[in-house]
Amino acid sequence: MYKVIIDCDPGHDDIMAIFCALANKEKIDILGYTTVCGNNLLDKVTDNLCNVLSFLNIEAMVAKGAHKPLFYDSEPQPIAHGESGLDGPVFTYSNLKPINLNANDFLYNTISKEEKVILFGLGPLTNIASFIQKHPDIISKIDKLIIMGGSIYKGNILEESEFNIYCDPHSAKIVFDSSLDIILAPLEVCDFCTLHHNIIEDFKDKSKLFQLTYEILEFYFRYSKRKGDIKSPVFDLAVPMYLLHPEIFEGKNAFVDIILDQDKRGKTIINYNEKGNTLVLDKCDNHLFEQYFLNDLNTLEKLL
Ligand code: BDR
Ligand code: CA
Repeated sequence: MYKVIIDCDPGHDDIMAIFCALANKEKIDILGYTTVCGNNLLDKVTDNLCNVLSFLNIEAMVAKGAHKPLFYDSEPQPIAHGESGLDGPVFTYSNLKPINLNANDFLYNTISKEEKVILFGLGPLTNIASFIQKHPDIISKIDKLIIMGGSIYKGNILEESEFNIYCDPHSAKIVFDSSLDIILAPLEVCDFCTLHHNIIEDFKDKSKLFQLTYEILEFYFRYSKRKGDIKSPVFDLAVPMYLLHPEIFEGKNAFVDIILDQDKRGKTIINYNEKGNTLVLDKCDNHLFEQYFLNDLNTLEKLL
C-alpha cells in the first residue's frame, strides 16, 4: 500500500488527479492534503479542495500551507482555471474545514509516524521546499516525490517555463538540489497525458461524481477548445497515473537545475545523467492513460 500526501493547488486537473488517487484505494492510502498558493490564492484553492471533498462526502485531513511563493508575488491564473481557481461547478455548502495545523507541521507529524511516504507535488513547490529546509532529519522517509512541473524545452507561461516552477523557482531549486528521489512529469509528457473533449458527453446527469466531473472538465476543456484542439492535457493527472502505471511511461534520469532570474524565470535545465536524482518522463501511452482514468471514475462512483 502506498502512503501518499497530496500537495496541491486545485485547480481542475489537481481534482482529476485526486479522483484517480481516491479510486485506487486498494493501492493508495491518502494520508492527507496540503494546499499551496499557485493557480490561485491559498484560501481559494483550499476552499476548492474542501468543497469538492465535502460534496462527495469524503473525510480528509486538509492542511493549509504557503500563502505566497518564497520570493515572488502570487500570480493567479484565471485564464485556465477561472476566477475561483475551479470555475465550472458551484458549491453552496461545505462541512469540511482545514485542520488547525499548517502544512509544514502536518507533514512533519504525519511523515514521522510512517515508515515511508510518497509525496505528490501538483502545484508550486513552496510547501515541500519549506519542509525540506525545516526538517532535513526526516526527508529520508520520503520514498519518492512525484511532481508535475517544468519542461524539457517548451513553456506554458513563458516561452520556456512551466507555471508551477515559474511560480516559485526558488523553492523548486531547493527541491531539485535535495537528496530526494524525484519523478518529474514535465509539459512534454503531459502532451500524452490527455483526455478527448468528447469523453464528457455522456457524463451529464449520470451520477453525482460524473456530473461534477462534467462541470469541472467542461470548463477546463474550453481553454484548449478555443485553440481548436480536440483533447486537453490534464497535467496533474500524470502524477498518480505514474505511481499506479509506471509501465505506460518512459523517461530518463537527469539532474535538474532551475533558472531564478526574471527573464527566464522558472526554466528547468535538464542535464541528462544516469546518476541524476530525477527521472524526467517524456512519453506516455495516451490511449491507456485515458482508459485508466475512465475506469477510475467508474470505480470511484461505486466507492462513494
Ligand atoms: C500546472 O499549472 C496548474 O495550473 C495546473 O494545475 C498544473 O499543476 C500546469 O502547468
Ligand atoms: Ca496544479
